[in-house]
Amino acid sequence: MNHKKIRQIFLSFFKRKKHKILNSASIVAKKDYSLMFTNAGMNIFKDFFLGKKKSQDSRIANFQKCLRITGKHNDLFEVGKDTYHHTMFEMLGNWSFGDYFKKESIKWAWELLTEVYKIDKSNIYVTIFKGNKEDKLSFDRESFKYWNKKIDDSKILLFDKKHNFWEMGTTGPCGTCTEIHVDLRNEKEKFKIPGNNLVNKKHPLVIELWNIVFIQFFRKSDGTLVKLPTFHVDTGMGFERLCMVLQKKKSTYDTDIFTDLIKYIAQHTDQIYGVTETIDLAIRIIADHMRSVVFAIYDGIIPSNNKYGYVIRKILRRIIVTYYLTLKIKKPFLFKLVKPIICYIQNSHLNKSHLKYDLSTIIYDISTMILMEEKLFLKTIKLGINKLEKIIEKLRETKCNIIDGKIRKIIYWLYDTYGLPLEISQRIIYKRIPYPMII
Ligand code: ALA
Repeated sequence: MNHKKIRQIFLSFFKRKKHKILNSASIVAKKDYSLMFTNAGMNIFKDFFLGKKKSQDSRIANFQKCLRITGKHNDLFEVGKDTYHHTMFEMLGNWSFGDYFKKESIKWAWELLTEVYKIDKSNIYVTIFKGNKEDKLSFDRESFKYWNKKIDDSKILLFDKKHNFWEMGTTGPCGTCTEIHVDLRNEKEKFKIPGNNLVNKKHPLVIELWNIVFIQFFRKSDGTLVKLPTFHVDTGMGFERLCMVLQKKKSTYDTDIFTDLIKYIAQHTDQIYGVTETIDLAIRIIADHMRSVVFAIYDGIIPSNNKYGYVIRKILRRIIVTYYLTLKIKKPFLFKLVKPIICYIQNSHLNKSHLKYDLSTIIYDISTMILMEEKLFLKTIKLGINKLEKIIEKLRETKCNIIDGKIRKIIYWLYDTYGLPLEISQRIIYKRIPYPMII
């Protein structure tokens, strides 16, 4: 099943359950002052949850492009290290605004996963909220009751607030949640360690797939919870992870969402993906971050020195440092990755406003923007390295006994004055000066 079909099946399923289907909103949360980028499918519905506006449709389903690189939900440093986190991902979601609640959400989630997508029931685990004294909330008995009609008690696991109470940010609509996890290991592994011991333990093949949130509260800035007049449902299923499960892959990066992009990166950097872990990690970072950058630019952000533009520039620079240091690439090449990403966007996210631009113009404009950023930053790196090499040479000549503090000063001076990334100076100094750095 390819990714387009998987997305379509989700939307058709909820259409049959009388949901209005919406296209993805922008990845940039310009209308919400508590956020920079859309970090969950529910962001655009915040006012409905809070009762400030009334939705014309009490049931909605959509797929939403999300970016988790700032604020409460930030996955930037997970990316690459594992095989299933992303800064930019798509979330499939169904919503009830004061309409259905726990019973239907749980029943439909199970029906979709096991009867439509045909995920093996024996591989599914669910988690529910065990209660929290501080917030005066008790165990989610109702969800337990509905899950227990489908699945054995031993597969219903209780977790605390960290996992089973979802909040958009430090303030805002929130509520207890129930999560669906899937165990993708082979039978031998499952026999050795039962799946319920690995849920929420960061195992790459026992992963969270779908979060179903029961929005019942508003978290105030003083930390207290206020009950909302009407209860709602907010669900989010990781699209890349769903594809990983249905396409029987061991990583989201091996699904057809990523294969073309990874192939392009490997080709342009003269590498083979899947052989060396450090190289694979770098390739995954490049693939993930480039999608974030291109999706954000496509939605109107220009890399710059402030606000949204600065975040995107920083991500772009993180990619450049990665390819410079790990893949030893010294010339711009990211701009060549724009085309496959834009083709993916156009295939999956087309909305009418984008039709007025011709595809090749969009690819050309975004590629040019990225090429300029790469050139500029590579120049900065080269200039900084040049300075650093002269300093090292001088220190050698004077046989100066360099202490850690002095090295650190040099590194920060090069960063402050010449913009040379700390990682690059550290790598150079660490290799050339014969004592360990403590950074
Ligand atoms: N809003 C919930 C989440 O993002 C569904 O996980």
